[in-house]
Amino acid sequence: MSPTVSRKVIPLPRRGGPGTGEPPPGRKRPTRVLAVTSGKGGVGKTNIVANLGFTLSRLGKKVMILDADLGLGNLDVLLGIAPRWNISHVIRGERVLADILAEGPGPMQILPAASGIQELTRLNAEQKLQLFSDLDRLIDGVDLLLIDTAAGISSNVMDFSVMAQEIVVVVSPEPTSITDAYALMKVLSLKYAEKSCKLLVNLAASPREARDVFRQLELVTGRFLDIRIEYWGHILRDDHLARGVKHQRLVSELYPESRAGRCFTELARRVIATPPAHRPKGDTHLFWHHLVRGHHP
Ligand SMILES: Nc1ncnc2c1ncn2[C@@H]1O[C@H](COP(=O)(O)OP(=O)(O)OP(=O)(O)O)[C@@H](O)[C@H]1O
Ligand SMILES: [Mg+2]
Repeated sequence: MSPTVSRKVIPLPRRGGPGTGEPPPGRKRPTRVLAVTSGKGGVGKTNIVANLGFTLSRLGKKVMILDADLGLGNLDVLLGIAPRWNISHVIRGERVLADILAEGPGPMQILPAASGIQELTRLNAEQKLQLFSDLDRLIDGVDLLLIDTAAGISSNVMDFSVMAQEIVVVVSPEPTSITDAYALMKVLSLKYAEKSCKLLVNLAASPREARDVFRQLELVTGRFLDIRIEYWGHILRDDHLARGVKHQRLVSELYPESRAGRCFTELARRVIATPPAHRPKGDTHLFWHHLVRGHHP
């Protein structure tokens, strides 16, 4: 079993009133940061982030999406946009983060990743710190930042997940996806001391099947792990979604009344109706301070 990574935070200069939990002066409103992740690949994270972001922006929210599948990003392809710059230009120092912002449908703002650049999957702590602190400044005034991570338990994936206020684990009803989701939660709990995460069941045949998947995971996590999982809802399996993907268009845009389209509307409404119970500690949007520590998993 791996040792628990300390979340000891080294004090950094504060921008706001000490310990108030309130937005510092000049900050328009706090940004809600959600990381969407999964143990197994291909369970629908990118489609979920894109459709949820689109629907939230149609409901009047200012949404930004970070494609954090840094080396193999495909959010831009899914959205049918061709951004000129991406994260690789930022890491190489050729552009700053604000330069690479692209506009997606909705409209929402997109921070695109690169595709096929392996070194981006191995960012060092310093590079991540720089990226996260730049991002923290960039999201001022944004209502929701959705982070589309890569699958699995690599340090990149985990760092992007634990810096968010809310971690959404996507799972499909396949047994392999369920066991991989459990493995991911185990790492979140044991190595990163996360106390809770949300579960979204995608590709469900019915709401009942999705609930069953949740119950299975709730049972094993409750028995063996110190992490609470909260049911975040389901997205039904729907050919309309795959049809949209082929045309690089979102199901929520093309077929909002389809099975999947309605699920995204319902989910987006629920997200708006249920803000996180408490503001995170500190005065930044992101918990990137956890990177300032002696060792990395
Ligand atoms: N609700 C759904 N109904 C039907 N097909 C779906 C649904 N969700 C996802 N898919 C299909 O699954 C494919 C994979 O989805 P997506 O790329 O969003 O997964 P991912 O988790 O982001 O994958 P990766 O781990 O590679 O990043 C999509 O191209 C789409 O065809
Ligand atoms: Mg993806």
